[in-house]
Amino acid sequence: QDLPPFRNEPLTDFSKPENRAAMEAALEKVRAQFDRHYPLIIGEDEIYLDETIASLNPSHPDQVVGRVSAATAEHAARAVEVAYEAFQTWRKTPAEERAAILLKAAQLMRERKHEFSAWMVYEVGKSWPEADADTAEAIDFLEYYARQMLDIEERAPKLVYQIPTERSTYRYIPLGVGAIITPWNFPVAIFTGMVSSALVTGNTVVAKPAEQSPVVAYHVVQLLYEAGIPRGVLNYLPGYGEVAGEALVVHPKTRFISFTGSKEVGIHINQRAAEIQPGQIWLKRTVLEMGGKDAVIVDETADLDAATEGVVVSAFGFQGQKCSAGSRAIFVEDVYDEMVQRVIERTKQLKIGDPVDPTVFLGPVIDTDAVNKIMSYIEIGHDEGNLVLGGKRLDLDGGYFIEPTIFTDVPWDARIAQEEIFGPVLAIIKAKDFDDALRIANSTEYGLTGSVYSRDRARLERAADEFHVGNLYFNRKSTGALVGVHPFGGFNMSGTDSKAGGPDYLLLFLQPKSISEKI
Ligand code: SER
Repeated sequence: QDLPPFRNEPLTDFSKPENRAAMEAALEKVRAQFDRHYPLIIGEDEIYLDETIASLNPSHPDQVVGRVSAATAEHAARAVEVAYEAFQTWRKTPAEERAAILLKAAQLMRERKHEFSAWMVYEVGKSWPEADADTAEAIDFLEYYARQMLDIEERAPKLVYQIPTERSTYRYIPLGVGAIITPWNFPVAIFTGMVSSALVTGNTVVAKPAEQSPVVAYHVVQLLYEAGIPRGVLNYLPGYGEVAGEALVVHPKTRFISFTGSKEVGIHINQRAAEIQPGQIWLKRTVLEMGGKDAVIVDETADLDAATEGVVVSAFGFQGQKCSAGSRAIFVEDVYDEMVQRVIERTKQLKIGDPVDPTVFLGPVIDTDAVNKIMSYIEIGHDEGNLVLGGKRLDLDGGYFIEPTIFTDVPWDARIAQEEIFGPVLAIIKAKDFDDALRIANSTEYGLTGSVYSRDRARLERAADEFHVGNLYFNRKSTGALVGVHPFGGFNMSGTDSKAGGPDYLLLFLQPKSISEKI
């Protein structure tokens, strides 16, 4: 095959005037499309419902980015039936054809990348660089999974040995209909990755985007149709998790569920998926990516400038609303006071506001539920540690802004050191020494990402063995996994460690078949 090797999509340099102008133009173009009404897409049908979900701009909640139809359980059931029909032909399309569609989609998205980024600035409050990285990651997933699929096809027959009396081969076949339930925090990257991985492996999909980011998901779906994914093969089903999501999970013809979101919802899906429904003839497979309470360790040998930057960006990038966020900072005693001061000073420099402004680092949190949850954890934090920065909601044009908030001297077992807050709240914990830091880092039920800042090689090697996280980083931030470079997924209550953007991921949506003939 003559495909160029995989290479991560470069990030946009917004210090260049032409790039800034292109993004400004995209923001304007997208703004002109506010408040449209979007249908469900089930097979060939576009269904506009009276019951809608308004997707609001979290920086200006009076702005309706778009309204999507809210699917009922009946719509969900219909979508699964349609996807099941479509599976009977889609599963027979050659892998090369499916991969080619993903490559075409990558090309289309590259041409319109600022538009997708602009939707995210408005719909979820991403800063320009965060939105740009999200779109770049989506392009990466398309490019990467296309190559992975071709690779699997080529490798499969060679994976079995031959005996003199038989000719044997091995094949990976798709599973069936997938319910793809996606989060709002990477509304382009994770949506595109979860949908395209299921499609390229020959499955058909009912995609239910998060209630908070259904509009940009609609535009991704349109792009996939334009690239050649047939209707019916990909169905778009916005709606509420408890209604549409639940109905997809329990449908007897749903073969697998691919979910990224909170621990609570992930556990619930796992339980419901395990119940056998009347007429169901398989065990449903679940691929679940859940939360994190990720730690950044800094020891006394570390480069403290780099560590300060890493702690702040890991904690507050996209307002801390990443499962990979470094929401715990663990400093060893010898550098504790100095690191606390440095982190406070650096955090004070972060600009807060509406991220349409390219100089803004910290935008709003996603919605009022998030505000309430985060503010209630800040309340709890007052009893558990010392509030040294932030702690308040900011009233900027009614947007959902919360100050970057830092608590120090937080006990390792405090609630704000154990529970995922998913907001701009950093718990700083003091460790006696490196051993203690490692013990504290491993003390939660999660195991997603972790960073260690140290110049001591032996300690880094110990961390490699003992820091029990799916994505471990040395002397760099805990966020920003790159497709193909840092396959992403975590241990324990962080989920099924399914390693999105990694070499094993597509196998989760396939089942191997062994075929032998006597000769
Ligand atoms: N993959 C993202 C990161 O690494 C989180 O979903 O930050």
